[in-house]
Amino acid sequence: MAKAWAVAALACTVGAGAWTGCSGGGPVAAVQASDPVTASEHGGGFGQQLQSQAQLSNGRRIFRFDTFGDEAFWGGVLRLHEAIEGSGHGGVGAGVSPKTALAVGLKVDVDALDHRTLEALRHGKVNLDSPDTTLALLSEGAVVGVKGVPDGKGGLKSLGITCALCHSTVDDSFAPGIGHRLDGWPNQDLNVGAIVNLSPDLTPVAQLLGVDQPTVRTVLQSWGPGKFDAELFMDGKAFQDDGRSAATVIPPAYGLAGVNLHTYTGWGSIPYWNAFVAILEMHGQGNFFDPRLDDANKFPIAAKNGFGHVHVDDDLVTSKLADLQRYQLSLTAPRPRSGSLDVHAVARGRDLFSGQARCASCHVPPLYTEPGWNMHTGAEIGIDDFQASRSPDGRYRTTPLRGLASHAKRGFFHDGRFATLADVVDHYDSFFHLGLSPAQKADLVEYLKSL
Ligand code: HEC
Ligand code: HEC
Repeated sequence: MAKAWAVAALACTVGAGAWTGCSGGGPVAAVQASDPVTASEHGGGFGQQLQSQAQLSNGRRIFRFDTFGDEAFWGGVLRLHEAIEGSGHGGVGAGVSPKTALAVGLKVDVDALDHRTLEALRHGKVNLDSPDTTLALLSEGAVVGVKGVPDGKGGLKSLGITCALCHSTVDDSFAPGIGHRLDGWPNQDLNVGAIVNLSPDLTPVAQLLGVDQPTVRTVLQSWGPGKFDAELFMDGKAFQDDGRSAATVIPPAYGLAGVNLHTYTGWGSIPYWNAFVAILEMHGQGNFFDPRLDDANKFPIAAKNGFGHVHVDDDLVTSKLADLQRYQLSLTAPRPRSGSLDVHAVARGRDLFSGQARCASCHVPPLYTEPGWNMHTGAEIGIDDFQASRSPDGRYRTTPLRGLASHAKRGFFHDGRFATLADVVDHYDSFFHLGLSPAQKADLVEYLKSL
């Protein structure tokens, strides 16, 4: 007999009976045939190429559209669908208009919209103040990372989220927040805390964390756009020692091939973290094992709830980990627009990076992290240990630096403490006594932007 799944148990015991979402995942939207996925080049015959292409497009489908059955949580427990549809459709409150949805950073995939919707949008004939429009967008599968389960009466029965919610954005080609998908790019506008706060009832979360509901809402509000706190549900720590939010910047999911440990604090490999997120954060339905979470000093909430020993009969995650990983490894970091950088400064910056500034001793090109155990204490890089101490190894992972220019909006380092790359360079210059001149610092920044 399977042991009760901790998070499901939470939902089933305190989830106000709205457990209909338990059955989970609706039909997965098809990958558009026009969207090419490049077959990997490593040889084999035509058949093998076709196979790897099929695995990649399956991985992309999972990344974009798979909820792993997490409707049971986002709809069933948090009842977010009720807040989105509004009382007009049997939910609660005024509902969420497209304007509000865009304001909390949700993105619209223009390729999912049918011709008529596009024309109407183009001619200003779509009511962006009406929750009905949001429901229409959801039914077209056009809200990136959010999957509505229709109730057949124009409203929603439930709602789930996918990896793309946080790790995809759009190119704004149609309008701000509306465009073609950019998989792997962090959604720097997404206000996860504000979205979760739409829930009419956060009692289950409050009970899990052992606090009252207003406290939960204050914590969610403290995150701000582009941030999320994946460790909160392990250790219940919401604020750093100086009072700043404990949330981290949502990182890119591109440029990770060849990198050993993942997340800011090196929790594990890509498939490790994918399983962790799918089950413990998204609340999908799958098996998960990590006895490190039994450490009740470090992870009181995880230890108490058995998060490191999740067993379910119907596993909707494990069989997807291989193709999901394949797809993630295929996501290369975006290159800077040609002509946008001063090539001479970039060349001088490159010399500094491996020379006087000694950056390459940790950020080893071309990975820009160490081959091997890519971990350091806070003291080694001149920062506090707060976030590191919330992870199994107590260290920070050397961030791979590709595509930095595409995720500059919420600052750098795990919590975005350095607003710009120039601030990062200033920090290292003073901490390591590098003696860089202002011109050298500018060259180094130009090089970082070129990666
Ligand atoms: C609610 C937002 C959110 C969702 C949904 C989400 N992630 Fe993340 N992801 C994050 C945050 C925040 C981190 C950083 C965590 C940390 O370091 O503590 C992260 C880290 C990662 C990393 C590590 C990146 C690196 O630099 O090593 C990978 C890989 C990743 N996520 C993949 C996924 C996949 C695959 C899914 C779906 C199964 C997913 N994420 C769902 C927010 C999210
Ligand atoms: C001792 C190893 C080490 C050295 C030397 C080092 N770094 Fe880092 N670097 C790290 C670690 C670890 C992090 C992760 C810090 C965090 O997230 O809080 C990091 C983070 C960064 C980031 C932030 C990336 C992001 O996406 O947030 C940048 C940029 C960076 N380093 C650039 C440099 C430059 C430029 C130099 C040389 C002046 C340098 N580093 C030297 C280990 C090192």
